[in-house]
Amino acid sequence: MFNFSTLTTLLVLVSAAVADTMLAAVYEPGNNKLVLNPAYPVPTPGEGEVLLKVAACGVCHSDVFFLSAARPDPRTYVLGHEIVGTPSQLGAGVQNISTTQLYGVLIIDPSNTNPSTSTIGTGLDGGYAEFVLVNQSQLFPVPDGLAPEIAVAGTDSLLTVFNAVNNVAQVTTGDRVLIYGVGGLGHQAVQLAKHLGATVFAADLRPEARQLALDLGATQAFDLEDLTAVTSNGTFHVDTVIDFVATAQSFELSKAAVALSLSEGFAGLSTPGKIVLVGISADSLSFASVDLIETNIRVFSSLYGSPADMQSAFDLLSQGVIRPNVTVAPLENINTALEALTAHDVTGRMVVIPGLNSTATTRR
Ligand SMILES: *[C@@H]1O[C@H](CO)[C@@H](O)[C@H](O)[C@H]1NC(C)=O
Ligand SMILES: *[C@@H]1O[C@H](CO)[C@@H](O)[C@H](O)[C@H]1NC(C)=O
Ligand SMILES: *[C@@H]1O[C@H](CO)[C@@H](O)[C@H](O)[C@H]1NC(C)=O
Ligand SMILES: *[C@@H]1O[C@H](CO)[C@@H](O)[C@H](O)[C@H]1NC(C)=O
Ligand SMILES: *[C@@H]1O[C@H](CO)[C@@H](O)[C@H](O)[C@H]1NC(C)=O
Repeated sequence: MFNFSTLTTLLVLVSAAVADTMLAAVYEPGNNKLVLNPAYPVPTPGEGEVLLKVAACGVCHSDVFFLSAARPDPRTYVLGHEIVGTPSQLGAGVQNISTTQLYGVLIIDPSNTNPSTSTIGTGLDGGYAEFVLVNQSQLFPVPDGLAPEIAVAGTDSLLTVFNAVNNVAQVTTGDRVLIYGVGGLGHQAVQLAKHLGATVFAADLRPEARQLALDLGATQAFDLEDLTAVTSNGTFHVDTVIDFVATAQSFELSKAAVALSLSEGFAGLSTPGKIVLVGISADSLSFASVDLIETNIRVFSSLYGSPADMQSAFDLLSQGVIRPNVTVAPLENINTALEALTAHDVTGRMVVIPGLNSTATTRR
């Protein structure tokens, strides 16, 4: 029998359901700005998929690279790949996912045995939107008590830093490490290298970034003129450079900073200098093989990280070992945020939050 309270319950259920459309910032080929679409369709989760309500999305330098003409992407999609959120709809067969838990998204699906170049926020719709569709296997619970704008670092920026500094460079106690580029990733790398027992140096062309590095425990922070001077007169040497810029210029200075003299290199007594490239640029980096060999330099690249690295990153954030310097802004301001990043006008990491309808504020 029909009764009024059933109808009320139904209406409440319907109104609590996810809306059909949402605000999303869409990348279009050839357009160097994102298009803010207030009526972008909200996707429906298929088998094994989860619709996440985006709680925060980090604004990454690689998005600036995608928007530049350096490597045009012919696909159209919602940009944003550094995401935390709460499930709002579960597809068939999804298990052990709680709708009250905050999760981080690993953009490379660890369960996908046939990975493609389309990942969340790069080919597939990403996190500069109110909702994002992901596979259950990409979700990792955020430790209790971490604010979304801090936790989000664990899904990309700190995860990438952890892989580069801890796994690839294997920074350890007593190492002398130069962090080249103290931006969204670099300022966390300063803290991680310190935490691992290194003596940390920093290089950045921006005075605010150098100040941030010093505030976070760097021994010395160079502008590029100083770094050129101390590397060319041979008074500055480090074991490792983590290069978050990776341009022709940074590569030249990095080589000079880790190079051993010919006699030291030949003696084979010293450990090789390491350069770890993390930054994404379209520059060609050049070297004569004889120079790398005779000065005992090893060059590595490092991209993103594993589920275990995300766990390590969450732990470091949760313990307060790494404190990202974060500026939050509403999703509506994504183009302004990307422009600021392009102009090297951002200190620390910028994070957008859908529904945060106020001017940017700084938090820690
Ligand atoms: C859910 O948890 C149970 C118990 O821990 C486990 O056996 C099962 O494999 C999990 N399912 C998924 C999809 O992770
Ligand atoms: C989930 O995984 C399946 C199988 O790999 C894939 O076809 C689908 O596109 C993925 N969904 C998302 C939202 O990435
Ligand atoms: C971020 O870094 C700047 C520069 O060091 C500093 O002035 C500011 O207080 C920091 N903000 C937080 C929240 O740590
Ligand atoms: C090397 O260059 C630095 C920076 O210009 C300078 O302070 C230092 O005195 C120089 N040292 C020598 C030995 O030339
Ligand atoms: C706040 O949100 C409304 C509705 O989405 C939008 O029209 C307005 O421009 C937003 N204001 C700011 C400052 O972002």
